[in-house]
Amino acid sequence: MTTSNIDNVASPQAKGSAVASPAAPAEPKAPAERPYSPGLQGVIAAETAIGFVDGEKGQLLYRGYPIGQLVERGTYGRVAELLWTGEWRKSARLAPAAIPEPVMCALRELPEHAHPMDALRTAVSVWGAWRRPHWPPTVDQARELTAFAPSALAAFHRLRQGLEPVAPNPKLSLAGGFLQQLNGKDPDPAAARALDAYFIVGAEHGLNASTFTCRVIISTRSDLASAVCGAIGALKGPLHGGAPAEVVSQLHEIGSPERAEKWVREAIARGDKIMGFGHRVYRAYDPRAAALRKVAEGMSDMAEWLDTAVKVEDVVLRIFGELKPDHVIKTNVEYYAAAVLQGVGLPPDLFPPTFALARMAGWSAHAIEQASADKLIRPDARYVGPPETEVPSLTGR
Ligand code: ACO
Repeated sequence: MTTSNIDNVASPQAKGSAVASPAAPAEPKAPAERPYSPGLQGVIAAETAIGFVDGEKGQLLYRGYPIGQLVERGTYGRVAELLWTGEWRKSARLAPAAIPEPVMCALRELPEHAHPMDALRTAVSVWGAWRRPHWPPTVDQARELTAFAPSALAAFHRLRQGLEPVAPNPKLSLAGGFLQQLNGKDPDPAAARALDAYFIVGAEHGLNASTFTCRVIISTRSDLASAVCGAIGALKGPLHGGAPAEVVSQLHEIGSPERAEKWVREAIARGDKIMGFGHRVYRAYDPRAAALRKVAEGMSDMAEWLDTAVKVEDVVLRIFGELKPDHVIKTNVEYYAAAVLQGVGLPPDLFPPTFALARMAGWSAHAIEQASADKLIRPDARYVGPPETEVPSLTGR
């Protein structure tokens, strides 16, 4: 009942190799004898030089640089270039780009009730059909895709409101240009800077589900557009990219800090999750949450909402400390991402695709890295179905 785990590659033995190479890896055991890790948890599936996450220490590095410093000293353009090339260039910038005509035609055809995440995925798909990016993916392809994607999402948002899309202003930053194309006017510089910071913290986070999806697709020597479409599909799931919108509705429901204690205790007693807290990897304060909290504190329009958010956070952390003393549950990035996204005036259904715009740099960096490794990703499944059985004959005998 076992199958070969490498069904596309002949083993040296199968080729009749007489001399075993000392460097050759040992023949893997049959799938039934190997450990199974549900959800691939704990499995090392790639080597990467792009990002490093230490959940115990609450550390996130992009190419060795700490996320807090990248937010303070960088721009999304510089950080994207760092992720793609490994080089920190002060002069690097990424300007918002015009939407290719076939993409605009497709966006105009979408129903206004379409989910903005589907609109973004469609835009990337049509870009791929028009541009036909070849394998292996390149930094130029990554730049082009990352620079036009915010324009496409902004255009869809305007079209669904019955408004005409706005041409991008290439003098603005990518985040500023996104706001300008959403609202049809030059962005408030503080809002543009805050959204740029959000783009930086959202750009990369190791081998999460969408990045893994992207690498799997590229590993088949498929193209960057296909890989990013798959990644957007993975990010659309509420377990991956949906939390910030729920943080906003949670804070609306709580209403005021005085109501937080009762609300949180009742929610936990019901078995509900408190959105914006806990993480699969971090056992310390999420460094992205810390960086975004600083940014949110600098936004003058946010004062009242932020004051509530900070006071509610204190209550939640105290209650978790009391109810789950053996388990460290801290604030995650989505809590303060909600503050920033709400503060720059985005509607909640644009939160997940805006996360996708930020992650575009990380996805494409991983696509480039995976293509240079050029190794098909093809794990095994442990078979748990019925044993070999004869198909019943047509005559019933
Ligand atoms: N609210 C209530 N209880 C929680 C929370 C929370 N936010 N987070 C963890 N717990 C509980 C778990 O239910 C579990 O309880 P149990 O031992 O009684 O079963 C215990 O704490 C331990 O959970 P962990 O192992 O630390 O967390 P897990 O890996 O299972 O889940 C997850 C991580 C899914 C992120 C969870 O914390 C959660 O649902 N948080 C709320 C949603 C959220 O904010 N998501 C965004 C995450 S960040 C990101 O994706 C970019």
